[in-house]
Amino acid sequence: MASDHLPVLTERVLELLVPAAPGLLVDGTVGLGGHAEALLGAAPGFRLLGLDRDPEALARAEERLRGFSDRVRLVEATFDQLPELLERLDLEEPAAVLADLGCSSLQLDIARRGFSFTADGPLDMRMGGTGPTAAEFLERAEWEELVKILRDYGEERRARAIARAIIRRREQSPLRTTGELSRLVQDVVGAGHGRRIHPATRTFQALRIAVNDELGQLERFLEPAVNTLRPGGRIAVISFHSLEDRIVKHTLRRLAGRCTCPPDFPVCKCQPQRLVTVLTSSPVRPDEEEVALNPRARSARLRAAERRSEG
Ligand SMILES: C[S@@+](CC[C@H](N)C(=O)[O-])C[C@H]1O[C@@H](n2cnc3c(N)ncnc32)[C@H](O)[C@@H]1O
Repeated sequence: MASDHLPVLTERVLELLVPAAPGLLVDGTVGLGGHAEALLGAAPGFRLLGLDRDPEALARAEERLRGFSDRVRLVEATFDQLPELLERLDLEEPAAVLADLGCSSLQLDIARRGFSFTADGPLDMRMGGTGPTAAEFLERAEWEELVKILRDYGEERRARAIARAIIRRREQSPLRTTGELSRLVQDVVGAGHGRRIHPATRTFQALRIAVNDELGQLERFLEPAVNTLRPGGRIAVISFHSLEDRIVKHTLRRLAGRCTCPPDFPVCKCQPQRLVTVLTSSPVRPDEEEVALNPRARSARLRAAERRSEG
């Protein structure tokens, strides 16, 4: 059930971000308010700016954070808008920034949001209410684009065959529901007896990442967010996919002054800066106990950094 959404790696998030209090805490993915509630409870000196692109999530966060209402401001926005928002709302440099990427259980479990391959619903998959739906995306995408997103975002080995089936199908009638897409993928890859995951898992993940421009959002967010931090301020990011984690790892290393160019580059092109100290030399992973309690935590990886003091 949506109300069961458990925040991931909460103890470690507290260990990493509470030392940055007092000051402004930005939760760029406030979701159902789980991390925000824990942080506001642990650090009375934090005031929260909570962002989410999903108005339904914000309504739930508002309810959950009612006990802290004098320290909370919630805004419907994508996190790549952070620098403009701070300016527009006339807020100071944040002491801490958190992003817990991906979808919440509120989005994944409700059939009408169109993320679920097991419960039939409209093929939507938008976390916020704007931009093309998954159905519109599938209606317009070229074959090469479909293959690329299925392969890169879904790591789907049958990407070409699935893309071909989508194009053949839409020439007859558009794909409108999650059930239709799920059956189409199953027809291509087989029902998969003995498989660890549902045959449509990778296709749905790939589409969700594309529809919400998840990697573009992360790339546009990270470096500007670090630039907004006050000296000694901290940033923590939880990712659930190796492509996201790679962006976080490389960006934080480069901002810590390390060259992240491929080894065969004759000269450095990545412009490393000594803006932060990385606080997590390897990604923080959940222990077995947390994964048993909360299977969504299985692929979580947390990385964090501290803005260096100037001078
Ligand atoms: C994993 S949930 C966060 C859960 C939250 N940490 C909690 O404890 O309840 C991710 C949330 O981030 C939101 N989100 C994802 N990408 C976003 C973006 N680029 N900008 C703003 N919100 C985003 C989603 O709508 C979703 O509500």
